[in-house]
Amino acid sequence: MPRLSVWALRAALLNFSVGFTFGALLLANKAMPAMGSLWRLLPAHIELLLIGWIVQLVLGIAFWIFPRFKFPPKRGRSEPGWIGWLLLNLGVLLVSIASILGRQELVVLGRISEATAVVLFASSLWPRTKPTEIGKQIT
Ligand code: HEM
Repeated sequence: MPRLSVWALRAALLNFSVGFTFGALLLANKAMPAMGSLWRLLPAHIELLLIGWIVQLVLGIAFWIFPRFKFPPKRGRSEPGWIGWLLLNLGVLLVSIASILGRQELVVLGRISEATAVVLFASSLWPRTKPTEIGKQIT
């Protein structure tokens, strides 16, 4: 597995752990209401699990398994993917913290970071989205 996929999967698992914990707290608080302010965790719960876990897992695995080029670098240039990985995680962190603190302007900034990350990942995968051609690609 390429290093980018390893780090994307590790970060995805981290987001999953924190997002799941927030979900458990929300659920417990729903069954036995203790602190109304715990509901502030809901947007972070959604962000961590939908973007930080599911989207990141998909992108990390896609970078690993999409068709490779015949000649090195077999997965194309990895720089856009690394920058995308960094921006995705910064975005998730920013949106999560900002939504807990109620700072909408930072939520917007985080979303821009996430959207840029997805464009970078997609642009790095795009050239690899081709049917196999002898001499150009292997599956
Ligand atoms: C991949 C896993 C998960 C995803 C993508 C996810 C996503 C979401 C989303 C989108 C909502 C908002 C639903 C709405 O407003 O109608 C939500 C709410 C919630 N989630 Fe999760 N969730 C996940 C796992 C979990 C887990 C494991 C728990 C508990 C241990 C949990 C507990 C909750 C609770 C308590 C709410 C609030 C429900 C309410 O509004 O009454 N979630 N989740």
